[in-house]
Amino acid sequence: MKKKFKFIDLFCGLGGFHVALSKLGGTCVFASDIDSDCRQVYKDNFGLEPHGDITKVDEKDIPAHDVLCAGFPCQAFSKAGKREGMTDPRGTLFFDVIRIVEHHKPSYLMLENVRNLVGHDDGNTWRVVKEHLRALGYVFPDEPIIFSPHMLGIPQFRERVFILCQRKDVARRNLQIKKPLTKPECHAEQILLTSDDTTPDISRYTLSNTELKVLDLWNEFIRGVKPPLPTFPVWTEEFREVNRCTSLENLPAWKRNIILRNRALYDRNKPFIDAWLKRCAACSAFAGAKAKLEWQSGENAKPNMWENILQFRPSGVRVKRPTYFPALVAITQTSIVGSLRRRLTPRETARLQSFPDSYKLHPNDRIAYRQLGNSVNVEVVQFFARQLLKSVA
Ligand SMILES: C[S@@+](CC[C@H](N)C(=O)[O-])C[C@H]1O[C@@H](n2cnc3c(N)ncnc32)[C@H](O)[C@@H]1O
Repeated sequence: MKKKFKFIDLFCGLGGFHVALSKLGGTCVFASDIDSDCRQVYKDNFGLEPHGDITKVDEKDIPAHDVLCAGFPCQAFSKAGKREGMTDPRGTLFFDVIRIVEHHKPSYLMLENVRNLVGHDDGNTWRVVKEHLRALGYVFPDEPIIFSPHMLGIPQFRERVFILCQRKDVARRNLQIKKPLTKPECHAEQILLTSDDTTPDISRYTLSNTELKVLDLWNEFIRGVKPPLPTFPVWTEEFREVNRCTSLENLPAWKRNIILRNRALYDRNKPFIDAWLKRCAACSAFAGAKAKLEWQSGENAKPNMWENILQFRPSGVRVKRPTYFPALVAITQTSIVGSLRRRLTPRETARLQSFPDSYKLHPNDRIAYRQLGNSVNVEVVQFFARQLLKSVA
């Protein structure tokens, strides 16, 4: 039988920790999020109204608890942010976690952050995090635990660092957090809506005619060029003769390298590319980032865009194998399922984070995608909680 325990959910977002720990017998006694949309969705799902800005909450007003969960804001550490770490006000929210831990000394801490937390500032940020937690009497592995849902067979590649701490006096000395020994198979199809699901108006997610045209042009390209397929960024701009006169001397080495590879690709395929560029010129949408390709499905993959996962990104049209989706992010680059010629729906995105279908998402898709992009994967939390919380759960 499950034991009962109490937990708190700091920076709760959609409540990924909440879903996971309540399944193991936990009761949430306090949650907080500064974002009113998150607080509303949380309340709709769990009947518990989260508090707001944690910096304004007196730690003495937080009820006693056994487990503290916190996916503290990661913008300050993520590669996408400016990487200011502990000097960024969002980085300092870690010290609010410390303030609460110091007062309540819960038996267990489950902390989650972006992978870059570990490498940030030459490892200094990770050292600061470890020192503070150890000074408060917590034990945890020295090596960071880096984990992604795809390691459990969930088709999303999302590497995150997990800091799983036990208070020294309750610690099981022999606790070794284990990762699965085998690599499970993943396939994008696992999370797609089927005819058994109540589907939303799916036409809202289908690609526009111009998007289809751009992707068809790229499909012609990868079918037409001589193998192997180019796995470096393809920049059509560099195929134009006029650009060949530009000196490359002052460019950084990585950029020079890409340009030279593009020119060589053009030279190998000149008649085909010249004819193809004429067709591209007739499509006004084929410009800027849409005129760049990031083929990441492998140089020997079947040359068919439509059998892959696609994304329109600021750096180009990215193509990946249909095994697992790239990490969801808070900004909108929602993945496209090539075979269906549409973007993932919010429900499918929620499945990538292992939220149950009964979870009520925000009715505004843009907000729902953002919240899911910030969230923690429920099954991953459960996987670790089962190992860490043996004495309470
Ligand atoms: C990485 S997300 C955590 C997501 C959460 N674990 C989940 O499962 O959805 C960080 C959250 O911290 C919230 N946040 C940022 N600053 C905050 C503050 N000062 N007080 C409380 N919450 C804050 C953000 O609104 C965001 O929802």
